[in-house]
Amino acid sequence: MIVKDSVSMRVLAIESSCDESAMCVMEIADGQIRIISNLVATHDMLSYKGVVPEVAARQHLHMLPKMLQQIKHLLPSVSFIAATCEPGLMGGLIMGMCVGKSLAVALNKPFYAVDHIKAHALSPLIENPQIKFPYICLLVSGGHTMLIKVQNFNDMQVLGRTKDDAMGELFDKIGVQLDLGFPAGPKIEKYALKGDSSRFKLPVPKIKNNQWDFSFSGLKTAFSKIIKENVNDQSSQSSHVNNQAFQNSQADDQADQIRYDIAASLQDVVKRVCMEKLILCFEYHPDVQYYAVCGGVASNLYIRQNMLEVAQKYGKNMYFPSHSLCTDNAAMIAFTALFGDKIDDLNASVKSSLRW
Ligand code: KG4
Ligand code: ZN
Repeated sequence: MIVKDSVSMRVLAIESSCDESAMCVMEIADGQIRIISNLVATHDMLSYKGVVPEVAARQHLHMLPKMLQQIKHLLPSVSFIAATCEPGLMGGLIMGMCVGKSLAVALNKPFYAVDHIKAHALSPLIENPQIKFPYICLLVSGGHTMLIKVQNFNDMQVLGRTKDDAMGELFDKIGVQLDLGFPAGPKIEKYALKGDSSRFKLPVPKIKNNQWDFSFSGLKTAFSKIIKENVNDQSSQSSHVNNQAFQNSQADDQADQIRYDIAASLQDVVKRVCMEKLILCFEYHPDVQYYAVCGGVASNLYIRQNMLEVAQKYGKNMYFPSHSLCTDNAAMIAFTALFGDKIDDLNASVKSSLRW
């Protein structure tokens, strides 16, 4: 990382754009970046089977002051405050910005508003300063699916984005139908280990005259149909026909296997989507040698392994931030406030959608 040796700064950053409340104190000193404190609380949305904006906002109201209490001894040493201003859920953004601005006023320090997507795109640099500009970041989470070319800290170009659901959302929505709880991604990865991905092999979705954007709604419909025909209908048939214990246990094994096969097929088609997009980048952006994948779905080892292999085959460098920096976190907001684009303004407002 290019940091002048003499520069020494500390930022307190807040992230609250979705269902994670997070606070980080990050420092640059002696040319080194150091995370002094990095707190994250993920709200339990299991019973809602999805993120409920008002419930998330109430959780931020509960968690952000508690986090502040934990790090309040660091406040006198902080040079400025930052918070996520966009995109995200309105209630959460307002909570975080309000806490951030109030702190800045009380401490008489500058306040910076940070774009959450730019922060995700810069997050691979926190642990991997060897990544060189320009690099391409595939952001795949519960809320976002984007391919971003990062020219430098401030200049980023969206190469592709989802036209409908996010990649993680596909895992979660199919997971709910398979009764796997929420969020379902980690469980689908586990189930897939026992499954046969060729049983329900679906093609990679295509968008007419557009090879850069993503679309997952067709896959969602196709998997819902598979579940209806193979899981729901099977279980109602087996409860009617098989009343002997032996037959029931056999039917249970079969029903489990169908779930494993659906999980493996889902994970496999998502992997193929990621790989196609990567190969497209390799072909159209030969100048780019560095790649990174972040967002919750990037935790999936099967997808990671395949992305790594394809990158190696093309002679490209591939990075995956550690899990805590893949999912929503305040370290990436702190890092962006230190190095990247930010709005230096106490009047900065919030916005639910992406501006660029
Ligand atoms: O980045 P993140 O916290 O998302 C947002 O807040 O938007 O990631 C959460 C998403 C969920 O959709 C979850 O199901 C998915 O990432 N996820 C996974 C895995 N772990 C988390 N998807 C597939 N495989 C995993 N191992
Ligand atoms: Zn995010």
